[in-house]
Amino acid sequence: MTTPAIAAVAATKRFPGVLANDAVDFTVFAGEVHTILGENGAGKSTLAAMLCGLYQPDEGHVERNGEPTLLRSPRDGLAQGIGMVHQHFRLVDRFTVAENVILGDPDQPRLIDQSVVETRVAEIGERFGLPIDPRARIADLTVGQRQRVEIVKMLYRDAEVLLLDEPTAVLTPKEVEALFITVNAMTAAGKAIVFISHKLGEVMSISDRVTVMRAGRVTGEVATADTDQRHLAELMVGRPVESETRRATAKSGQADVLLECRGLTLSIDGQNAVDDVDITLRRGEILGIAGVAGNGQRPLARLLAGIDGCDAGSVAVNGSSVTNHGPLAARNAGLAFVPEDRLGTGLVPGLSLTDNMLLTRPRKFLVDRKGARREVGQAITDYEIKTPGTEAHARLLSGGNSQKVLLARELASLGTEDGPQVIIVSSPTRGLDIGAAEFVRGLLHEARERGAAVLIISEDLDEVRSLADRVAVLYRGQIALQGRTDDLTIEQIGLAMAGVSADDDVGASPAEVAG
Ligand SMILES: Nc1ncnc2c1ncn2[C@@H]1O[C@H](COP(=O)(O)OP(=O)(O)OP(=O)(O)O)[C@@H](O)[C@H]1O
Ligand SMILES: [Mg+2]
Repeated sequence: MTTPAIAAVAATKRFPGVLANDAVDFTVFAGEVHTILGENGAGKSTLAAMLCGLYQPDEGHVERNGEPTLLRSPRDGLAQGIGMVHQHFRLVDRFTVAENVILGDPDQPRLIDQSVVETRVAEIGERFGLPIDPRARIADLTVGQRQRVEIVKMLYRDAEVLLLDEPTAVLTPKEVEALFITVNAMTAAGKAIVFISHKLGEVMSISDRVTVMRAGRVTGEVATADTDQRHLAELMVGRPVESETRRATAKSGQADVLLECRGLTLSIDGQNAVDDVDITLRRGEILGIAGVAGNGQRPLARLLAGIDGCDAGSVAVNGSSVTNHGPLAARNAGLAFVPEDRLGTGLVPGLSLTDNMLLTRPRKFLVDRKGARREVGQAITDYEIKTPGTEAHARLLSGGNSQKVLLARELASLGTEDGPQVIIVSSPTRGLDIGAAEFVRGLLHEARERGAAVLIISEDLDEVRSLADRVAVLYRGQIALQGRTDDLTIEQIGLAMAGVSADDDVGASPAEVAG
């Protein structure tokens, strides 16, 4: 007999200059999915962090099965059956799945029988729809698979309350479906799920209840049965929200070609990661590259940006060949690149926002701190970045707010005369709240209006479809399908992403590829 998994937080949490959680009240019951919804910096991760023992409340307490409890660490949390999958994973790359699963588990015997662990991992995978090879090394896994390992790790320790912090932000539509099957299996087994997401469609489909937060406070709690997306958006933002901007269609015709690659090929470990790719991107056009992660998006972007050299083929930016000339040549030819790995390659956690803004600026004799500070100030307004100020350290930002700072830095020159002609950006709105996503979409559309060419690389089909004039699907390093966004259905794109060839019945013209 198990008692229902119930956990609650009634607490206040402050950080220097920020009231992150202001007397919040949150309860999750066994067998339900309870979502925390709110804009970037609203306090969602902080609330979850108190519930799992990562942060301690300044005032108030956490409850487990109706009793106040003191969680001094995530280890305490797990010992009480509460586990969290964070926005940024915490796995050790060079260890195997099984090794990661038992890492830091105080209940493990000193001498561990690996085969016992592996069997149990396989059993959990079977039961909850989390297939994973226990012997695989983390470094060899896709992001979606790594997330599975994090969930298995919690289930291995019999967590009854699982906190998932923006788990779908890094997943493809197919992976999201799989995750939701797992979530349903977990609630069916009596577990309680705390879910955090910015995607209202998802929230409506997976949750039983939603707690909405704004600026550190709980502004509402509703059952999904009694609400809809529009209402949730209103609760979240505090005013009525307009639906997504319509994508204006680019003028067709023969504008200048700003980015062109022909026969681009790169082999990694004996396989063609990028395989004979042709892309023609014209002035005033947004092309979206869709595809399941690991089908060559990352290497393709790096080839186009000049970071890696290709084995065969050519790249030209604005008419000049930059093939294998390095990133600086591409940049000088007018190309800007916002990589997918924004935290890894982007912000320096220990530096202030102003210093982070200066990081990629061309080195001048005198560093223009004042200018940079002004820019950060402007970005804080434009993107509604929640931070105590321009001198705050980057590591103090919430997940979405650090995305905003990076985008602001990389896209700052878009509005200017000498801004980039060609912009390659990975997952431009990932992790952003509604307002900031809207702002970024506006920025990219504005760049296009100004005559720039934009290449978006994203696993999020909604993101691609809401931004791009044309869509190309990358499958196993090759362009499997290409056409105007309006001519392609979600099903056609989905099939191409899954590697199902649909040559015969696709209305879009492959001739577009040839330009
Ligand atoms: N360790 C910390 N030190 C200082 N400030 C912090 C810390 N963690 C969070 N904050 C601040 O607390 C506020 C709430 O942050 P939190 O991470 O809970 O937001 P969030 O709702 O999860 O946002 P996002 O959607 O961007 O992930 C933000 O203003 C953030 O800058
Ligand atoms: Mg967060």
